Amino acid sequence: MTLIDGKKTAAEIKQEIAAEVKEMTARGERAPHLAAILVGHDGGSETYVANKVKACAECGFESSLIRFEDDVTEERLLEEIKKLNENPEIDGFIVQLPLPRHIDEQRIIRAIDPSKDVDGFHPINVGNMSIGLPGFVSATPAGIMELLRRYGVETKGKRAVVLGRSNIVGKPMATLLMQKSNPGNCTVTVCHSATPDIKEICREADIIVAALGSPGFVTEDMVKPGATVIDVGTTRVPDSTRKSGWRLRGDVDFDNVAPKCEFITPVPGGVGPMTICSLMMNTLKAKKGL
Ligand code: GUN
Repeated sequence: MTLIDGKKTAAEIKQEIAAEVKEMTARGERAPHLAAILVGHDGGSETYVANKVKACAECGFESSLIRFEDDVTEERLLEEIKKLNENPEIDGFIVQLPLPRHIDEQRIIRAIDPSKDVDGFHPINVGNMSIGLPGFVSATPAGIMELLRRYGVETKGKRAVVLGRSNIVGKPMATLLMQKSNPGNCTVTVCHSATPDIKEICREADIIVAALGSPGFVTEDMVKPGATVIDVGTTRVPDSTRKSGWRLRGDVDFDNVAPKCEFITPVPGGVGPMTICSLMMNTLKAKKGL
């Protein structure tokens, strides 16, 4: 069993990016600049955005955090997005999700200039990805593809099962795994809440990507010996031994599943650090032009 160390890989990639940024600034160019819009005070979103700001510093990027209270209007957010779209000093920006219920998330996403949409959520970027054209790919699936590439996981002709059909992870993950590329060329099945026989389907899989948000869902009896298991789950579960009172738990019953796997990602320290790393790669790409 090989543990896929996302934390170590992300650190290596951030060093590679920082070296490129150093060359860029030595040539007299400005460093890439990522902005983030954060609405409200959701614990998870606060942590994600703080980690994104920290990663920018590690890569030598400029970063800006623009905060709004929960009661911000959609119009005010759209106005801020317009400013960021038009600001030549901003290479890319993200609007941290989820947004409060009174705001139409899709309308907000559609307002972002696709050439600055480093989250890869705009329909133009989703469309480009699905037909294999250049564009920004959603950070979590892009990070998983990078892990498969760097660890040399064989994907061609393999059966992949994606658990979850979210726009951010499940759907783009399935698209990337089936693409005619390396990694890619998988035969992909997507399972979701209406899928009967998930256990049987998983047992056929050479690669399982679990992105359900259901702690410990993938159990040992669902995994074929020698499979590669990628765990995207990051649910906060109560843990009285921690100062915070919680810990992160993945969608995979790691302790029992890991011994059966050829490759597996842990939680934390697997996919999570790579997501932020992909955002940095996308921001560098935005600065350089696609
Ligand atoms: N919320 C959860 N994941 C993400 C992400 O990758 N980007 C943004 N903007 N919001 C998120």
